[in-house]
Amino acid sequence: MTTETAPAETRLFIGGAFVDADGGTTLDTINPATGEVLAQVAHASPDDVAAAVAAARSAQPAWAELPISDRARILRRTAELIESNAGRLAALESADAGKPITDCRAQIGGTAEWFDFFADVSAHLRSHVVPTFPNHLNYTLRQPIGVVATITPWNYPMPLYGIKLPAALAVGNAVVLKPAEQTPLTALALADLMREAGLPDGVLNVVPGLGETTGAALVEADIDMISFTGSTEVGRKIASRAGERLVKVTLELGGKSPSIVFADSDLDRAADGALFTFCVHQGQLCSAGTRLLVEESVREDFVGRLVERAEALRIGDPMAADTQLGAVMSDEQMVRIERYVASGIEQGANPLTGASRAEVAGLEGGLFYRPTIFEGVDTRMTIAQEEIFGPVLSVLPFTDDAQAVELANDVLYGLAAGIWTNDLRRAHRFAAAVDAGLVYVNTMNLLAPWSPYSGWKQSGLGVEGGIEQASSFTKLKTVWVNLGEDVPRL
Ligand code: NAI
Ligand code: MG
Repeated sequence: MTTETAPAETRLFIGGAFVDADGGTTLDTINPATGEVLAQVAHASPDDVAAAVAAARSAQPAWAELPISDRARILRRTAELIESNAGRLAALESADAGKPITDCRAQIGGTAEWFDFFADVSAHLRSHVVPTFPNHLNYTLRQPIGVVATITPWNYPMPLYGIKLPAALAVGNAVVLKPAEQTPLTALALADLMREAGLPDGVLNVVPGLGETTGAALVEADIDMISFTGSTEVGRKIASRAGERLVKVTLELGGKSPSIVFADSDLDRAADGALFTFCVHQGQLCSAGTRLLVEESVREDFVGRLVERAEALRIGDPMAADTQLGAVMSDEQMVRIERYVASGIEQGANPLTGASRAEVAGLEGGLFYRPTIFEGVDTRMTIAQEEIFGPVLSVLPFTDDAQAVELANDVLYGLAAGIWTNDLRRAHRFAAAVDAGLVYVNTMNLLAPWSPYSGWKQSGLGVEGGIEQASSFTKLKTVWVNLGEDVPRL
């Protein structure tokens, strides 16, 4: 372990202080590129979770009463501190999550942008005066929900804190964050920076721990809303509990997104984009384009370009600046990828490249997997339907636009879709026809804090990003004022 990747904090963050877990229990967090234990992190018990929620509950009213400009200053200062600590945060994230350091650095910069964008978003959540009856004033107010529980996965730790925390905090909520058990380190580092930025005690609390214990306790706690990102399976469980309790919930879940390549597109650009979307972060992203729909007339040519590119990717030490593919998150994740690849072969698909682990000299204990491209895939095969969360692509040929749309929509998920074409009419027709919350034309996987998105079908509920997300962290209140003499009478 280098000094850069030695975490400054491994304890829970509750009520503005770092504290040991109740009973002193810890969980190991592992560097997936080496297999070594990176740190032992406090494991929050249900009592710790209750303490964190109580701290949030008592801090929230004063936070909500601060002038917007005071809350904005703290969030902007956080953005600056994220930037000035970017090197340290990127190294920590790379070691904890196994992803290339260059990607991490870029993502830390992106995280700061989310804090910047949402800083004063409350000022832009306009209320409305609603025309009703003569001599009556009717207007709406947007008020904070209260205590928001955020539960996040391991694939994009810092970016997801950026996506969830500033929007919730800016509009006056307090937050209890449960980061993924595999990647808790940058959440604690961020809490420390927010304290330095002047965030009042208790407004943000961080409780690392397992999903079934710490996460489940948070879902049952005295909270007003849950903002979850992770698997569809756990999202469904959380939403059903939230439904019983009538606690508001937003979900950003899995995906099985299509990349659709038409013969009229710029095939080299499309090949770069199609490679990026299924390989970035080893395919461990919800919006990965893992179904490649390619027009039959260019299939052989296009797939050839893709295989060539996949085989040229540099798989290696995530800490090396020229590494393009780092490690897979965990043994569990590796076993899952291998199981899916085996099922593809069993069901008759043909791997053109990959389908095996990669060895990285000097990192023999690391978890590396080769980008894998399957041909001869039927849309009903398991590899074409389920989220693998690894660098595994299914190629599905089509012959006309109608079949492309049909194949694009023939999955349970509906997060993203990419279309590669130079035909403007086709691009817009397709954008309207596809069942996905995010459509990309001649690009893939872009996000910006001010651009809202939402998962369709089994990919989620609610919206992230933009003023729409900030609004979703508020409750609507309607005020009726009688300006005249008449009152309702029996
Ligand atoms: P997961 O959904 O189990 O974990 C996500 C978060 O939920 C973690 O913080 C976890 O501790 C928490 N959690 C788990 N069970 C919980 C419960 N009962 N109550 C409250 N919180 C709970 O995802 P996991 O196990 O890490 O990955 C499994 C698969 O899920 C992946 O292979 C991938 O297919 C999918 N996934 C999708 C993600 C996305 O961004 N859409 C992110 C992570 C995983
Ligand atoms: Mg799980």
